[in-house]
Amino acid sequence: MDQKLLFQMAVEARKKAYVPYSKFRVGAALLTHNGRIYTGCNIECASFGATNCAERTAIFKAISEGNKDFEAIAIASDNEDYTFPCGICRQVIFEFGKNIKIIVGKSSENLKVMTIEELLPNGFSKEDF
Ligand code: THU
Repeated sequence: MDQKLLFQMAVEARKKAYVPYSKFRVGAALLTHNGRIYTGCNIECASFGATNCAERTAIFKAISEGNKDFEAIAIASDNEDYTFPCGICRQVIFEFGKNIKIIVGKSSENLKVMTIEELLPNGFSKEDF
């Protein structure tokens, strides 16, 4: 997997963000085990609770296209520091595999990779009921 390329695709996806309220753009690029990449951006709404994060946009696009076998997701935001997925996105990523890699970066030269299980230890899943 080319982590740098995936991160660069997240940076590119960030340009599509619809963020009239926070003005904080986020992009995500999701890699499936069969080599497809789905991108996503955050989409805000005047009713703030209806906002969708970049990560979930990418995941929902993939699933609605029949793909749910995920290898990694890269996340890029307007922040110069690492942007990790929010709690809701962690739960949604975890739903599809404990070993999915989360790639965050200050730049494409400065990446950090963790598994979703490291970001959501003891997470609740379909195995728990
Ligand atoms: N946001 C994401 O898209 N992903 C994250 O992991 C963190 C937060 C978005 C939601 C909202 O549009 C903006 O960032 C500020 O919270």
